[in-house]
Amino acid sequence: MFFTLFIILSFMEIVLATRNNRKVREISRIFRGYDVRFLSLDAFPGCPDVEEDGKTFRQNALKKAVSIARFTGCTAIADDSGLEVMALGRAPGVFSARYAGKGADDRKNLMKLLREMRGLEGEDREARFVCCIAIAFPDGSYKTFTGYAKGEIAKKPKGFNGFGYDPVFCPAGYDLTFAQMTASEKDRLSHRGKALKKLYIYLKNQFFIHGRNDLL
Ligand code: IMP
Repeated sequence: MFFTLFIILSFMEIVLATRNNRKVREISRIFRGYDVRFLSLDAFPGCPDVEEDGKTFRQNALKKAVSIARFTGCTAIADDSGLEVMALGRAPGVFSARYAGKGADDRKNLMKLLREMRGLEGEDREARFVCCIAIAFPDGSYKTFTGYAKGEIAKKPKGFNGFGYDPVFCPAGYDLTFAQMTASEKDRLSHRGKALKKLYIYLKNQFFIHGRNDLL
């Protein structure tokens, strides 16, 4: 009896509300070594796509997590993230993925950002990445965790790692962009790494998950 209970409490299966394999890999990497198994949406054929039409990262993340938990009957995690440039009134914000228009790729979004920021110097180049992670349970309850990475926007793209705005984002205190860092260096500093760390602490306290990860 005790043994069965221990297994139930120490092993969690969580659906990641994304079809983006990069995100599944990134989250699995950060939780490597823990008693958490992440399932992708591919394990649930017929799962509807959820439109990201919220005004905030939190609204979008919650909408996705709650819908997927309802559809799958499993605990679900969703995130929404993006870049905020203070001098641009926090743009591109929730529109980060489609800043240069619907269907625009990373390169087009990044080049639009550099164009919009032409002539801006010093403090006006300050920016932050934001990531909100929502966890929703089959009983309808939920919780959200937000992480930030502060930095500034470089004048030219540098580096080839990562994705999105990584080639122009220099985290505070570094001369390198995220795209010039290794994945684990970025995980330690990133908005997503910080939000996941909060989620991890919550899960550990609530569900006794076990493991070892030097990042956490
Ligand atoms: P989403 O969370 O997948 O909707 O991400 C929205 C957009 O924000 C991405 O397409 C990227 O343009 C940008 N973004 C979010 N996180 C990062 C990051 O860690 N590096 C670079 N760009 C990011």
